[in-house]
Amino acid sequence: MSNTYYLTTPIYYVNGPPHFGHAYSTVIADTLARYQRLAGREVCFLTGTDEHGLKMERAAASEGLSVHALVDRNSAEFRKAWGALGIDYDEFIRTTEPRHRQALNELSARVFRNGHLYKGKYSGWYCVNCENYAGEGEQKVDCPECGRSTEFMTEESYFFRLSAFQEKLLDLYRRRPDFVVPPARFNEIIRFVEGGLKDISFTRTSFKWGIPAEFDPSHIIYVWFDALTSYISGIGFGADPGRFEKYWPAQLHIIGKDILRFHAVYWPAFLMAAGLEVPRQILSHGWWLSQGEKMSKSRGNFVDPLAFEKVFPMDGLRYFLLREVPVGLDGNFSFDALVQRINSDLANDLGNLVSRSLKMVETYCGGRAPAGGGNDPQLREQFDKTAETVHQHFQAYQLHKALESIWELIGAANRYIVAQEPWKLAKDPDQRRQLERVMVNALEVLRLLALLLRPLLPLTSQRIWDCLGLEHASLSARWDQLRWGEFPAGTRIGAIEQIFPRIDKDSFLERLSQNEAASAASTETRITLDDFSKIDLRAGLILQAARVPNSDKLLKLEVDIGREKRQVVAGIGRKYAPEDLLGKRIILVANLKPARLMGIESNGMVLAATENDVPILATFTEDVTPGAKLK
Ligand code: MSP
Repeated sequence: MSNTYYLTTPIYYVNGPPHFGHAYSTVIADTLARYQRLAGREVCFLTGTDEHGLKMERAAASEGLSVHALVDRNSAEFRKAWGALGIDYDEFIRTTEPRHRQALNELSARVFRNGHLYKGKYSGWYCVNCENYAGEGEQKVDCPECGRSTEFMTEESYFFRLSAFQEKLLDLYRRRPDFVVPPARFNEIIRFVEGGLKDISFTRTSFKWGIPAEFDPSHIIYVWFDALTSYISGIGFGADPGRFEKYWPAQLHIIGKDILRFHAVYWPAFLMAAGLEVPRQILSHGWWLSQGEKMSKSRGNFVDPLAFEKVFPMDGLRYFLLREVPVGLDGNFSFDALVQRINSDLANDLGNLVSRSLKMVETYCGGRAPAGGGNDPQLREQFDKTAETVHQHFQAYQLHKALESIWELIGAANRYIVAQEPWKLAKDPDQRRQLERVMVNALEVLRLLALLLRPLLPLTSQRIWDCLGLEHASLSARWDQLRWGEFPAGTRIGAIEQIFPRIDKDSFLERLSQNEAASAASTETRITLDDFSKIDLRAGLILQAARVPNSDKLLKLEVDIGREKRQVVAGIGRKYAPEDLLGKRIILVANLKPARLMGIESNGMVLAATENDVPILATFTEDVTPGAKLK
């Protein structure tokens, strides 16, 4: 069996900065990569950014940036976030790099030469968010992946003969019963392919931001083929055959369930068409939901990893992501659950074990590890059991259970200390030897905990190691070398740290949201031009104004917007008297659905700024014709 292990995350869209969902795929991949390294495999872990496509063009336009500037800035944000989360990748591929273009040219040329492409025309619905062909025909369909509204598109396109791969794919699925995990997701894919496959667009002609096909440069390669190719461009396909052959096929693609079809159907078909091997396995994780909806940047219900870093040690987020939900299932995000995990598991169980053990070694043993090694048979047995089960859980991608097992060892160590009562032993000189044994058992558990936590919470593992005063080199010991009873006698322990503080939910949330606002302001990705163009803003002239009975806040206005007069209810009554408003030229949001305020219908909204809760109307100082559109 080859000793190499190649695994990948999805490459992330850079229309915005990284968020919680991206962090999830990446933390799972990093944990598995670290585990494989510790198991002695020669690992290549690839991540990167997906930078072409209409989505990027539009995001750049909405920010008034060139596409280059947008993708450079946001790709750098991803690298920054992964640095903060302790992600130890070997390759970071960007689809705008020359090495990627070279690989895509080579791969698509092979597919073309092998006769799997033909020219045609696509007329149908397209989801820009997922860069997904949603369906042909005149009847509008929403995107089957994200449910968003689609756009009609008709353009010349080369098609990939996916239909010709149905049998080959089904055969692959039969030969590899674990090609996709978890099995329930695999069954969905099998049923999808059994239902028959349609040919798919391989190139596009209605936009420019992408890689032109070498076989016909007036066509741009469809962004999903472009993106999937990153899995081989990042390891030298088309440039460095030795490296490519060393790592391909990948052992594992880690992805979210929303992009499984692209990976389990299109990608293997595309590779087969080019005469290349297909990946060994695809691990599809679930979604983090917030109040029943997928967490995402565009829905605004996400946690910004970089903001988290400013508020709490980053492994807190990593722990939550890995511990709270089994890989493969959807999970509900709530701040209550996050705070609970931090306080009970990290601050209380682990944090206390570290600090109380070290304090006792400092006080009772002058800060040096006593001789003799750990000798408690129960703790030793618990450790052996934990090491074995953690290993099994890693093999099955059950990372939450790996953490659960490690926490059983932490629990056992905490109970051991309570039962041994070292504070009493310390008062009796005859118990000196026993006291030292208890101390060394505690140190031994901490040493092994740091090693077991290495792939899961690497930053914490390092901190515990430093607190123990142990040599850096020995932290990278392979897993098959982990043995009980090797704490080096006489080691001078390091500084005593509280590795995880307890947090108070309200102040934690307040600090998090301050930092989120600051980091959002630093990248400023909001809505697209397309979103903005949906808002119909008109210049309006106020013809009449009156107070709404029983309200000191609301005024009823009659506004001329050229083609018609509108009745609008506005919450500006504390600042403006009705007579002050007559003849003012204001800005009206003219296409809001009608609403009723205090029983009065309002057909639009007047724009105003708010300062210390006081509204200040946006008005024109120049003469503007009522009804003029604002753009
Ligand atoms: N660029 C494509 C992938 C191309 S791979 C050849 C893409 N990018 S993405 O930025 O939209 O998302 C990447 C990953 O983030 C997916 O695995 C997706 O499942 C994950 N997540 C995004 N939001 C998520 C949640 N709310 N929860 C969990 N993961 C989710 O798709």
